[in-house]
Amino acid sequence: MILVIGANGTVGSLVVRQVVEAGQKVRVLVRDASKATKHGGEVEVVVGDLARPETLGPAFSGVEKVFLLSTGPERMEINAIDAARAAGVRHIIKFSSMGFGPERDALRIGNWHRAVEAHLAASGIAWTVLLAGGFSSNALGWAPTLKAQGMAFAATGDGKVAVVDPADLAAVAVAVLTRPGHEGRRYELTGPEALSFAEQVELIGKAVGRPLRFVDVPPAAARDALSQTGMPAPLVEGMLEVMARIKAGGAETVSRDVEQVLGRKPRTFAAWAEANAAVFR
Ligand SMILES: NC(=O)c1ccc[n+]([C@@H]2O[C@H](COP(=O)([O-])OP(=O)(O)OC[C@H]3O[C@@H](n4cnc5c(N)ncnc54)[C@H](OP(=O)(O)O)[C@@H]3O)[C@@H](O)[C@H]2O)c1
Repeated sequence: MILVIGANGTVGSLVVRQVVEAGQKVRVLVRDASKATKHGGEVEVVVGDLARPETLGPAFSGVEKVFLLSTGPERMEINAIDAARAAGVRHIIKFSSMGFGPERDALRIGNWHRAVEAHLAASGIAWTVLLAGGFSSNALGWAPTLKAQGMAFAATGDGKVAVVDPADLAAVAVAVLTRPGHEGRRYELTGPEALSFAEQVELIGKAVGRPLRFVDVPPAAARDALSQTGMPAPLVEGMLEVMARIKAGGAETVSRDVEQVLGRKPRTFAAWAEANAAVFR
């Protein structure tokens, strides 16, 4: 039995679908069972909350492998690892973040991942860590202004990101969950090429059939725009830190690990934009 945590989210829902397609038995741990009906009848749904360790036991009972994804902070996933150890889980696949810059240090928005990775390494359970780069699907956040004004705004200058399709992230997770030989490995998961935000916006424009424009804005303007969406202040500051690192060239790394695990190249951003064009029309 495979347990998927984070199953209602972007990557987790794709992992569930692909595990079912691979013919494996899958269970999801969710806070709200009504949100999990989308997974269909083959998926076992168990209610639990990572913030409340006393709710976690039933989800881990009889489980061999766990896909562990959450939005943090670290205590959530440490609770999951402790519950997995108590239940005798054999292998945890931890979804993490690559970090930015020459030292590959995580920023405040994701530095909790490193604490979880350390706890997992010390747990005695076999592990695999999937270090994701920026998701292609982050571009969905531009949809409102691209639709209304034909423009997307960010404080990233000409900085590039080797954005990765969430479907490829899920495919790697499912390969690790269903095939042997990935224990003790850390995979850096990126798309096939680093693209500036202007290049990404241009590719979305090609997919929707009208010219769209990226506008580089000063950090103060980006702060105002993010704050107006209702985003909590610490998250806004975290996003600004990420944008500054991207602008400085810290997110350009292109890794071959997706291809190494899947035996095929990762999908391009152009293909992602084609598949999601309706969102931007
Ligand atoms: N976006 C990027 O570019 C990027 C890059 C690298 C790494 N990452 C990492 O990717 C992860 C986010 O992935 P995603 O976008 O697929 O996530 P997402 O769509 O935001 O989904 C997060 C999932 O976690 C579940 N969850 C949150 N708190 C929980 C709790 N207390 N108990 C049980 N479940 C809980 C949520 O459940 P509910 O449905 O109940 O809310 C949801 O299913 C983060 O760890 C982030 O650091 C993101």
